Amino acid sequence: MSVDLCGVTLGGPVLNGSGTFDAIAARRAFGDELLERFPFDAFVSKTITIEPREGNPPPRLWEAPSGLINSIGLPNKGLEGFLTRDLPRLAELPVPLVVSVMGYSPGDLAELAARVAEREEVAMVELNVSCPNVESGLIMGAEPAETARAVGEVRRRCEKPVIVKLTPNATEPAAVAEAAEGAGADAVSLLNTLKGMALDPATRLPWLGGGSGGLSGPAVRAVALEQVAAVSARVRIPVVGMGGIATAADAADFLAAGAHVVAIGTESFRDPAAGARVRDGLARLQVQTAAASA
Ligand SMILES: Cc1cc2nc3c(=O)[nH]c(=O)nc-3n(C[C@H](O)[C@H](O)[C@H](O)COP(=O)(O)O)c2cc1C
Repeated sequence: MSVDLCGVTLGGPVLNGSGTFDAIAARRAFGDELLERFPFDAFVSKTITIEPREGNPPPRLWEAPSGLINSIGLPNKGLEGFLTRDLPRLAELPVPLVVSVMGYSPGDLAELAARVAEREEVAMVELNVSCPNVESGLIMGAEPAETARAVGEVRRRCEKPVIVKLTPNATEPAAVAEAAEGAGADAVSLLNTLKGMALDPATRLPWLGGGSGGLSGPAVRAVALEQVAAVSARVRIPVVGMGGIATAADAADFLAAGAHVVAIGTESFRDPAAGARVRDGLARLQVQTAAASA
């Protein structure tokens, strides 16, 4: 089951979606058992920014039909807090570490990526480009030229493999993926959450403290599968496929659509061992397929 992702060997093809599995809290809850049977083959940190962020006011979650709308708002300790407090603990995980970063301009993003990538504990960097560039007012990942500018700047300053996390809230995600590849990305991952909103049934006012949020979970799976297929057909770099994966059969669909590896997000809230369950199920499916074609 081992796979190569951007020159890094993984024990299997299952990652976590950034921000959906708190490995430090899980270690507190499950102890060292978590390390003995870690549910993912690489661990992706939640997104960090240069300065600390409080995140959005509560409430931050809404259960939608077959999905979740979140307006967490990327609370994090900032770069220095991450490096001194979280990184030493994440480095104890038994799998390669991917650090997710977000900046408010290509320069910010490149600074953050360079500072994180110089640490030997970090195997890869993932760029969360679902936020506005304060210099242009445009969402960095919503448009090919903006994405190319951001990725190009990161590429010049970061020697570790760079994964670009695509937003589904773009006119043509495959064109954005192609631009990322052209600017030097080593892989793309998709999809991030789709814009969504929920109203308080009593007041008909927005339920979430952030006003609107991002939809994830099985509700987005069909959209994700189509976008993964379209992106995989357009780029040669590996694709990390995610969006509503809950079972090994779902993961097998994403791999068949062109993903090189998959990631589990919302399902880990329901079942913290989902990653291991999907990985074991994929291994069984592989054995069955091999037996059927022998
Ligand atoms: C509560 C929550 C927090 C998230 N935080 C982040 C984040 O910090 N950075 C990021 O790039 N994506 C974040 N995501 C998006 C997921 O990584 C993933 O792209 C998305 O949820 C789709 O996968 P899923 O349907 O399997 O959850 C978050 C999603 C959820 C539900």
